[in-house]
Amino acid sequence: MSTTNLAAFLSQGAVDPRLGELVLAVAEGCVAINGHVRRGALGQAMGALGSENVQGEVQQKLDVLSNDVLLEGCAKATGLCAMASEEMDTIHPVREVGAEGGYLLLFDPLDGSSNIAVNVSIGTIFSILPTPKDSYGRAAAEADFLQPGRQQVAAGYVVYGPQTQMVLTLGAGVSAFTLDPDSGDWVMTAADIRIPAETKEFAINTANTRHWAAPVSRYVEECLAGVEGPRGKDFNMRWVASMVADVHRVMSRGGVFMYPWDKREPDRPGKLRLMYEANPMALLVEQAGGGSFDGQGETLDAKVTSLHQRASVMLGSAAEIARLRAYHAS
Ligand code: AHG
Ligand code: MN
Ligand code: MN
Repeated sequence: MSTTNLAAFLSQGAVDPRLGELVLAVAEGCVAINGHVRRGALGQAMGALGSENVQGEVQQKLDVLSNDVLLEGCAKATGLCAMASEEMDTIHPVREVGAEGGYLLLFDPLDGSSNIAVNVSIGTIFSILPTPKDSYGRAAAEADFLQPGRQQVAAGYVVYGPQTQMVLTLGAGVSAFTLDPDSGDWVMTAADIRIPAETKEFAINTANTRHWAAPVSRYVEECLAGVEGPRGKDFNMRWVASMVADVHRVMSRGGVFMYPWDKREPDRPGKLRLMYEANPMALLVEQAGGGSFDGQGETLDAKVTSLHQRASVMLGSAAEIARLRAYHAS
């Protein structure tokens, strides 16, 4: 594979230059966030604020800092009409929708906040939607964001781990770029990523076992039964508690990641948010040959009724998602 970088990848003919400009702006913002992450206590980014976000979660300084970095950094992208974030109650308008349309950017600026203070991998997740057809000549409104995940024109994440990597899809396959700490360039290090259909690894927070629905309990119990059980093979369990790190492992070597509905809050579909966690990850996984299921149907087909709605998430290796769908149907 000839060495190429993110800028070259985004300047290929088929890519709308304004979409490429926006993805580059996100990448630039993530380089700044990466700097704050890696300075840790030597910088200004550690510790909790007194505030709570719209999710009712205590905000970490790095949550808000990362959010502000992306708001400031992405506004210059000429095709960007508005932004939405896990850390903001309402949308952040940027410019009117032009005759040729524009883009809506959604992000979880800092995913895995419970891991910031313990030096475990965290990340940034982003999703890009087209402005709706009828929005020309006006500012984007919150309702314009409420599109099913299948409408995304791009999705990606950056994982701040031993390497800082961006995994990205523009709807035609999945590529990975590694941030060169010396040059600051995003060098392509994987192209056309494919998730193995079979796996021996599952990721779920087993502290919630007693709260799961029956199909999820059945699936996990069968994995735990190992080679003597119905699966006829032993499984490994992983749980980083940063979705970006857990999903990156699935993208890298297969597996299944689950944060399903549980009966702790029966009226809540799940903990994770649809628009800027489940949907971008579902597009990446599906583009890499895997699947994503929310207990009723495919994540990308889920009806969107509110910006911060939550979703039950089961995603990863195709054969495992097919099995989970079958267990939910029976
Ligand atoms: P965020 O830090 O953006 O709120 O996301 C945290 C999410 C997700 O990253 C992770 O998979 C999950 O919370 C972990 O939840 P538990 O701590 O309940 O395991
Ligand atoms: Mn998150
Ligand atoms: Mn977050």
